Amino acid sequence: TKKINAFPEGFLWGGAIAANQSEGAYLTDGKGLTTVDLLPTGENRFPIMLGSLPSFSPMEGEYYPSHEAIDFYHRFKEDIALFAEMGFKTLRVSISWARIFPNGDDNKPNEAGLQFYDDLFNELKKNDIEPLVTLAHFDVPVHLVKEYGSWKNRELIGFFEKYAKTVFSRYKNKVKYWLTFNEINMLLHLPYIGAGLVFSEGEDKQQVKYQAAHHQLVASALAVKAAHEIIPDVKVGCMLAAGMTYPYSSNPDDVMDAMDKDRESFFFIDVQSRGEYPSYAKRFFKDNNIVVKTEEEDEKLLKDYTVDYIGFSYYSSRVTSTDPKVQEDTTSGNIFGSITNPYLKTSEWGWTIDPKGFRITANQLYDRYQKPLFVVENGLGAVDEPDAQGEINDDYRIVYLRQHLKEMQEAINDGVDIIGYTSWGPIDIVSASTGEMKKRYGYIYVDRDNKGNGTLQRSKKQSFYWYKKVIESNGENL
Ligand code: BG6
Repeated sequence: TKKINAFPEGFLWGGAIAANQSEGAYLTDGKGLTTVDLLPTGENRFPIMLGSLPSFSPMEGEYYPSHEAIDFYHRFKEDIALFAEMGFKTLRVSISWARIFPNGDDNKPNEAGLQFYDDLFNELKKNDIEPLVTLAHFDVPVHLVKEYGSWKNRELIGFFEKYAKTVFSRYKNKVKYWLTFNEINMLLHLPYIGAGLVFSEGEDKQQVKYQAAHHQLVASALAVKAAHEIIPDVKVGCMLAAGMTYPYSSNPDDVMDAMDKDRESFFFIDVQSRGEYPSYAKRFFKDNNIVVKTEEEDEKLLKDYTVDYIGFSYYSSRVTSTDPKVQEDTTSGNIFGSITNPYLKTSEWGWTIDPKGFRITANQLYDRYQKPLFVVENGLGAVDEPDAQGEINDDYRIVYLRQHLKEMQEAINDGVDIIGYTSWGPIDIVSASTGEMKKRYGYIYVDRDNKGNGTLQRSKKQSFYWYKKVIESNGENL
């Protein structure tokens, strides 16, 4: 007899990282330069993420955290041993496109790059950890940006399809769970990390973004198609930066605005999961003079090759208002700022902490798509200071995660089909938004600072032992 509040058997507990934030070795074994390799920490980072890249090569005097990151490229065995010790059932990683096709448009793949991921997946297998693999997590080969304009250009679809087919064929016996584009809706907010977009003067940004989005959506459908042709039993998901938008007041204008804000994000998943452009998008394009160029075959591809499950990240809910006075009080978040929610606290980086919003968001997504959900990111970015004994007592992180897992459990009790949970950055990695090391999510501490100093040595935090117990008890022991 199943207990009402038990997690399903075989629930995929684990953690999630991305190539560009963990691997380092940015030019090792033939890897090409990627967009993230041109993102420094500090004040020049944000303008680039918005689409104004000053140079196609790293610049003197800047520090680029992806170049070495936490050196996962050379230390993955040690790190996987620690994940295995916590009992991970799954590890989410991403493949760096430029390790496989250094320029993106190469004829042949780079064998050393392919071999690296073979070694990584073998090591996971040895430890009974199921890989969950993202094809594109914020990194585009720079050559494709320079020569083709990245996802502005329809040619990217073909290059991406070739890359996807190459890795599906190579790892067909090793990887069953895939995600196409990480946080695909990020493209609208940080177009450089979402899609490698660099704008020229006078360019209509909104037009360009939606054209690039269309190209990614078609590429995603082609990846779903190829995966199902190549890998028996495969599961391919989309990935949404989720988090419900609340209206600040019951003023219908605010409610309408909240609905519109959510639809900006749902737009992508509506296409990837329901297989067609939603009607509200057509109106939005018309009202904003956006003309998305499509080819005849696109419509059928989008319809025929929808995703098998909905992957999403959840860090915060958001608040919106149409009242200019209310709008003045804002806080930050993982894709865009939000109005401060007077009922909730925020993290040290200003991200709203809303465990119940997690349950609400999961229900909202399940109501909308009726497909299995996979929580592929969640966590608290915080400063960790070792105590006098050199230990890190990150009880604040445990509190955050416990509250969120309880709400996830409630969502499951509501009937939402959730197949797994991979918390973000189970080992400290580079922050995507700020490039800092100081913003840590891990159960495992990495000795490295914002400037790249430190031994890179790994050590266990308090939360390491807590998460191990959570997994051991399949979520009963929170
Ligand atoms: C998500 C990204 O937006 O949030 C991750 O998919 C990112 O790559 C994570 O690291 C947390 O954001 P940050 O900026 O705290 O690293």
